[in-house]
Amino acid sequence: MGREGLKTIFLWYLVYVLVISANAAYIKHLNIWPMPMSVSYGYGNLYLSNDFELKTEGTKFSDASGILKDAFLRSIDVVRGTHVIEANSSKIDPSYVLKGIHIVVFSPSDELQHGVDESYKLHIPSQGNPLYAHIEAKTVYGALHGLQTFSQVCYYNISSRGILVHQVPLTIVDQPRFSYRGLLIDTSRHYQPLPVIKKVIDSMTYAKLNVLHWHIVDSQSFPLEIPSYPKLWDGAYSISERYAKRRGINVLAEIDVPGHAESWGVGYPSLWPSADCKEPLDVSNEFTFKLIDGILSGCWQSTPHVRKWLRRNGLNGSEAYQYFVLRAQKIALSHGYEIINWEETFNNFGSKLSPKTVVHNWLGSGVAQRVVEAGLRCIVSNQDKWYLDHLDALWQGFYSNEPLTNITNPKQQALVLGGEVCMWGEHVDASDIEQTIWPRAAAAAERLWTPYDNLAKDPEQVRDRLSYFRCLLNQRGVAAAPLDGFGRAAPYEPGSCYLQ
Ligand SMILES: *[C@@H]1O[C@H](CO)[C@@H](O)[C@H](O)[C@H]1NC(C)=O
Ligand SMILES: *[C@@H]1O[C@H](CO)[C@@H](O)[C@H](O)[C@H]1NC(C)=O
Ligand SMILES: *[C@@H]1O[C@H](CO)[C@@H](O)[C@H](O)[C@H]1NC(C)=O
Ligand SMILES: *[C@@H]1O[C@H](CO)[C@@H](O)[C@H](O)[C@H]1NC(C)=O
Repeated sequence: MGREGLKTIFLWYLVYVLVISANAAYIKHLNIWPMPMSVSYGYGNLYLSNDFELKTEGTKFSDASGILKDAFLRSIDVVRGTHVIEANSSKIDPSYVLKGIHIVVFSPSDELQHGVDESYKLHIPSQGNPLYAHIEAKTVYGALHGLQTFSQVCYYNISSRGILVHQVPLTIVDQPRFSYRGLLIDTSRHYQPLPVIKKVIDSMTYAKLNVLHWHIVDSQSFPLEIPSYPKLWDGAYSISERYAKRRGINVLAEIDVPGHAESWGVGYPSLWPSADCKEPLDVSNEFTFKLIDGILSGCWQSTPHVRKWLRRNGLNGSEAYQYFVLRAQKIALSHGYEIINWEETFNNFGSKLSPKTVVHNWLGSGVAQRVVEAGLRCIVSNQDKWYLDHLDALWQGFYSNEPLTNITNPKQQALVLGGEVCMWGEHVDASDIEQTIWPRAAAAAERLWTPYDNLAKDPEQVRDRLSYFRCLLNQRGVAAAPLDGFGRAAPYEPGSCYLQ
């Protein structure tokens, strides 16, 4: 064998040793993401029974729609993955075999509202016969988070070829710090096929994000069917790029108005100020408001019939913009909707907004502070830190972005509902959306879930655990990118997933 051959064998040996030691090292630590509010654990191991079962005695929740049962089956699926399980749990001392999980949910309702109680307790004893893990939660959505955490303390053991549960006895008491933990996807700039959106929703549950903000339409395309105005989706890219219409994720559908409206007029040209001036929606046309009702300022000045209407009503461009927003707010409120406005409305005429308005920050930092001082609620998405389409925004910045910066008054702090990372769609489609979202969205997810005092002051302290979570996502079929490099960077060199 030549020198090169020996060198190759040596290198492979080195990689092998690194992989094995990385695995062994990580298993000793508590690798839960996002880190729960409180955790106590021991150093025992249990085997997961081959017939691991769900027990729900004593629960007030009837699970008529099967949410809990499905979530249980999904979590067992991700734990087993594609592993070859050869260990026969009925041959192991039953006091070390986890027979199942006993879930008690106190509320009978499965209504998923913003602010629903998401707390849970998870307890796994170190031995017993029969031996069960226990989850207690006020609502089924807390129980779903409990199952996610449970799935993260189960590991496949390659020497015994069985699933082990580490760090028992384990007791976790957990609840989110913020009630709104969002991810925005944008299906206007690029169509995302439904299976991709479903996968994104599944991956969100792994990181305990709870709002999918679906920016459905924009200037470029209108892929949504609105039954009361069936021609709107003529603005889709093509007939096959349209959407027809459960996992503890609220879907918040956004239809951006009055700007970004070019796609609206493909089916209803009268919505545009004129054929060559297509944004914003025509403020002088009653049909515009009828249409907004039905589904839930340059051009204005340069188009004669709009200019005439503005003059007749004594409005300049910015006043007309205010008129549009306030009238749309009234329509939404009259239908019992909550209103969320991007921050421009607050910046331009904040004092005129309904006090029920939630202001969605995006332009920069420091906005949340002004919004809550004005007594309005806020969602934080400052683009410099939390825009996933900014590939130069790194995971460390996602982790460190604190929604309550400079907000010290507890009453004002309570007005910050949470935050949202935004996956704008200009440069993502089905081919690269997952690696652009993950793992950076996970870094923000911990910021939004974990109590402030438990968060790392220096993100480098959580690097190993995040790296472990990103490998877990890969194992679950989510194309999360390596931590280092710009967003969605390819792996830098050969090596273990845990070290990239
Ligand atoms: C596991 O062991 C039990 C008891 O020895 C045996 O009855 C059962 O068939 C085994 N199951 C499998 C899948 O090998
Ligand atoms: C895997 O299982 C073997 C045999 O049961 C045990 O000796 C070893 O400690 C386990 N490894 C880990 C990392 O738990
Ligand atoms: C529009 O009118 C308001 C009220 O008269 C005025 O304060 C504002 O500066 C005007 N805006 C523009 C762009 O002219
Ligand atoms: C918070 O306040 C400090 C001191 O006034 C200021 O320097 C900093 O820019 C503020 N941060 C944000 C995000 O507004």
